[in-house]
Order: sequence, then structure tokens, then C-alpha cells
Amino acid sequence: MGKSFVVWVVDDEPAIRELLNVIVTSAGYEVEVFSGGAEVLACADPVPGAVLLDLMMPEVDGVAVLKELKRRHPSLPVIVLTAVNEISRAVEVTKLGAYDYLVKPIDQERLKTTLHRALSHASLTEEVVRLKSELGERFHLKNIIGSSAAMRRVYAQIEKVANSDITVFISGESGTGKELVAKAIHYGSLRSDRPFIDVNCAAIPEGLQESELFGHEKGAFTGALATHPGKFEQAAGGTIFLDEVGEMSGSAQARLLRVLQERCLQRVGGTKTINLDVRVISASNRDLESMVADGSFRQDLFYRLVVFPIELPPLRQRAEDIPLLVEHFIGKYARDAAAGVTGIQPGAMEALRDHTWPGNVRELENVIHRSLLLADGPAIGIDDLPVGLGSGADSPGSESAAPISVAMSLDELEKAAIEKALKRHGGNLSDVARQLGIGRSTLYRKLEQYGFKNKKDD
Ligand SMILES: Nc1ncnc2c1ncn2[C@@H]1O[C@H](COP(=O)(O)OP(=O)(O)OP(=O)(O)O)[C@@H](O)[C@H]1O
Ligand SMILES: [Mg+2]
Repeated sequence: MGKSFVVWVVDDEPAIRELLNVIVTSAGYEVEVFSGGAEVLACADPVPGAVLLDLMMPEVDGVAVLKELKRRHPSLPVIVLTAVNEISRAVEVTKLGAYDYLVKPIDQERLKTTLHRALSHASLTEEVVRLKSELGERFHLKNIIGSSAAMRRVYAQIEKVANSDITVFISGESGTGKELVAKAIHYGSLRSDRPFIDVNCAAIPEGLQESELFGHEKGAFTGALATHPGKFEQAAGGTIFLDEVGEMSGSAQARLLRVLQERCLQRVGGTKTINLDVRVISASNRDLESMVADGSFRQDLFYRLVVFPIELPPLRQRAEDIPLLVEHFIGKYARDAAAGVTGIQPGAMEALRDHTWPGNVRELENVIHRSLLLADGPAIGIDDLPVGLGSGADSPGSESAAPISVAMSLDELEKAAIEKALKRHGGNLSDVARQLGIGRSTLYRKLEQYGFKNKKDD
């Protein structure tokens, strides 16, 4: 593992330099030593895997070296070494992009694990870059992210069907991206400047489905006060997306079958025939075939809908897509992130890769969004993740506040975030407000609202 990594050691004290050299070499990495900031900045050797940098050096100060290294190589992990009396500065340097800091005297084992984490972080970043360049445009299609073989097959299918009017059926567990695929097909088709009408059949009461979809004439039933064109008419020239199609009532199924056979419709209570130019895409997270088998879905309709099937694999079967998705969602929600949070720590990424994701990509998206809100370092850490993902793996010393879980309401989440920040800052409300990005008066109000004991700090 990582035998080919080179680590640069920068320290002005020869004895410490030698000690670090021995530890890093015994950890299996190659070492290059530098006696000061000027030397390291002048070095033209290939960029190393990581840098161990002493903060207090006579000529060029460690902070200046750090800034310059990060300017040249933004993803290079730099681990800062400090004396006990400079810890406040050390915290500052992590804000400048230092990967982590270690306090002298150096603990061998901590140094090794930190280095190991830093180097696997570096290779992860590289892996994302490599995947992207290798695949060119192919790691995504119209906001659909994923470079796994299964997802590339899906992209090929989308491209194949987009330019025809073939009826597509999309299957896959909840949160796998069925709606995203339906939109990609529509917006990649010749119909893209015509309407995309999205109908969630599960959200319409059975008795109203026919009139919602196919429209009704004035007086067709009690309460039909005016003529109402349905979703199919609204989709004229474009695409209708029938989501959760398995939830359609028997009578709506019968009417849909006629529409698909005859390519025209009559509104409920009407006699006029209206010609239709609408492309139909449907989706379901239920197994339509077994619904046909048990008689709850019409077999003739099934064959009309499932002309071209596209199957979306669950996320747990394509864990290799997780780093790209995480990166995508960190970018997507950057605006909501707590101040300075721009990435994720390798341990947290590992936990995300290992999770089984019953809620698929939607669940991952929610986890990243919430963790960005809660993180208090430059990167999402394992204890910023919901219980069940990061739990149990609490970092030493971080006595955990209320656990954060995916099922929490926004209020509960806010309360947990405040509690966590209070613990972190020892109850210093100025710091808590700053971390949460809210004013102090707002913070006071929320402390009261959530029943925290008054512990004003000034
Ligand atoms: N491959 C992907 N790349 C990027 N985002 C994705 C991907 N798959 C899903 N998402 C995101 O996950 C969320 C859920 O996706 P979508 O609504 O398409 O799922 P679905 O299969 O229709 O789920 P459901 O069956 O619950 O309706 C959306 O916010 C979507 O943008
Ligand atoms: Mg959906």
C-alpha cells in the first residue's frame, strides 16, 4: 500500500528531521528532507504525496511555505508540526488548507496514521481526476453522475432512445434516478422545446386519476364546473412522464391502454376525439411484472408501456460511483455549507462507500447536504455523518452531542447542530454563532426556543 509515495520532511532542527525520516521510512514511504522553507519552495522535484512541515522555522515562516505550497498544488496534503504553545496558530493553518496538525513531541503512531490517511486522501482525489479525464464527458450525462459500467450502459440506452418516440419504461428502487433519466430522455430529444409533463400517479386519488390525466368536459360529474384539459393535452408535442404507474386505478389503466393504441383521446364525459402527439415515459419502483401476475396491473397495458425498458441499478451495486456523486453533491450544496467546508475526509468517504444505501442516491444526496451544514472543519468528518454511518467511530476527545440521523426534522437537526457547536466551543456563544453563520440575537432566540439553559458568555 502506497509504497511508491514520497513524503517531504521540512524542519530546521537536524535531530527532528532525522527522527521524522526514520519514522516515515519505517512506515514504508520514501523521504526527502529539507532544512528550511526556501529549500522546499526552490525544489523542482515531482510533487510528493504529502508534506510534513514544521511551523516555526527561522528564515521563511512555515505559514508562508504552507500558503505557497497550497497555491501551487491545491490538493497536496500538508501536515503541520507545531510546539504545544502554538496550538492556536495550528488551528488557523488548518483553515489555510493544512491537512492536519501534529503537536511536538511527535507521537509515532499518530504520525503514521495521519500520513496514511493523508496519502489515501490524495489518491482518492487523484482517482476522481483520473476517472474524469479517462472518461471525458462520459462520467455524466445531463446531471446524471456515475462512471460504473452499469451507469454507462444506462447513458448508452438514453442516447439510443432519445431521438425516437419509442415508449420507455424505467424501473429501479426509490431514489435511483428514474425521474432524472426521464428528463434526460426528453431534453435530449427533438421534443426538448415542448413540455415535459410529470405526473405522479401515486399522488392522485384513484377517483380523480382519469380526469387528471385525460381531462373532462363541463358537467361530466358532480363538481366538474368547467371543461378541463388533462395532462396528456398539456403535454402536446412533448413528453408525459407517468411516475409510479403501478398505482394507476383500473379505469385509468383501461383508458390509458386505449390512448396508447389509438393515439387519440376523449375527455371524461366528452365525445370529441382529440389527436395526440405525445411521447410516453413511465416508471415504477414496484415490480410491474409481479403485479401483472397477481392481476393488479393489466398485462396488455404492460406490453404497451414496456417497449423499451431501462433498469437503474441500486447504489449498493455500484459503490464505485460514490466518490463522484459525493463530489457532485458537495459542489451542488456548496452555498449551504458551514463556513469553509469544501471537502470530505477519507474516513468519512470510506464510511459512505461501505453503507448499503436503502434510499439510494436520494439518501446519499440528503446525507451530504446535511453533513455540509453540520461540519465544523474544512472537510466533512466521520462524526458529521448520521448515526449508522459514522457512529461508534467517534474521534478521540470529541464527546459526541446529540446524534444526527437522516430521519430528523429540520428543527431537530438545527437543535443538534447547535448542541454540537456549543460543545465544540465550550459554550462560547460568539464562536457558536460564527460557526453556524447566524447572528448572536438569532442564536439567543434559538437557544430559548430549543430549551437550552441560558449560559451567556459575556
Ligand atoms: N446518477 C445520479 N446523479 C446525480 N444525481 C442523482 C443520480 N441519481 C439520482 N440523483 C438525485 O437523487 C434524487 C432522487 O432521484 P430521482 O427523483 O430521479 O429518483 P427516483 O428513482 O425517481 O425515486 P422515486 O422512486 O423515489 O421517485 C434527485 O435529487 C436526483 O437529482
Ligand atoms: Mg421519482
